[in-house]
Amino acid sequence: GRTAVVIPAAGRGVRLGRGAPKALRPLGGTPMLVHAVRAVARARTVSLVVVVAPPDGAAAVRTLLDEHPLPDSAGATEVVVVPGGETRQESVARGLAALTDDIDVVLVHDAARPLVPVETVEAVAAAVRDGAPAVVPALPVADTVKRIAPDVPAGEPEPVVATPERSLLRAVQTPQGFDRATLVAAHERAAGDGSDATDDAGLVERMGVPVVLVPGHEEAFKVTRPLDLVLAEAVLARRRA
Ligand code: CTP
Ligand code: MG
Repeated sequence: GRTAVVIPAAGRGVRLGRGAPKALRPLGGTPMLVHAVRAVARARTVSLVVVVAPPDGAAAVRTLLDEHPLPDSAGATEVVVVPGGETRQESVARGLAALTDDIDVVLVHDAARPLVPVETVEAVAAAVRDGAPAVVPALPVADTVKRIAPDVPAGEPEPVVATPERSLLRAVQTPQGFDRATLVAAHERAAGDGSDATDDAGLVERMGVPVVLVPGHEEAFKVTRPLDLVLAEAVLARRRA
């Protein structure tokens, strides 16, 4: 079977502030989504990329990608575009529905992680090919993390409930890689359950399927807030220097 990457890019980017949908914002003059598609298409094992566009923006995203063709190094990678949904979980599920029958390994990669190195993509895909049903790139966390009480009204001080041991915590990134049938089953189970899963591997964990971590990469960080754009521009400038 072949390996595909689903790229959820349908979010609005509320935390980034006013402007175009986050995936379409420029980075070094080129839309973030284009960087993300190039980054995963560079991986030798990837032969299909499914881009999940904003619900009303599939035609515009198709045009955008046609205006930014893949470099020769991407080989014969095919790129298809489908409209996304209200939640990230819905968007990924719509991407999965567009996969062809010959795909047996699926990676899910956030458009908001445009600078992921190809080595990270290859490592995740290889670990799934080697038999792991779910593989997640992750890094140790820098900050100590506190758990707070649920349902604290906005504006009130948040009571601390616990301080998990930092050395046992990891911050997870994408691409997350899966055996296709496992991921499809996890999304079928999650569909319409009301919770907006921010992490595909979390859905797989709920089914009792083992999830393993591989080393992530600093440059696979997610562009979430305005300061992240500053960092992304700097990383890109350093690469081009
Ligand atoms: N995403 C999606 N469909 C949604 C929501 C999110 O495809 N309904 C995608 C985003 O486009 C992004 C990835 O999921 O590539 C990770 O989500 P996040 O970083 O939270 O992006 P946004 O949801 O766009 O940002 P925010 O939460 O600040 O609005
Ligand atoms: Mg979001």
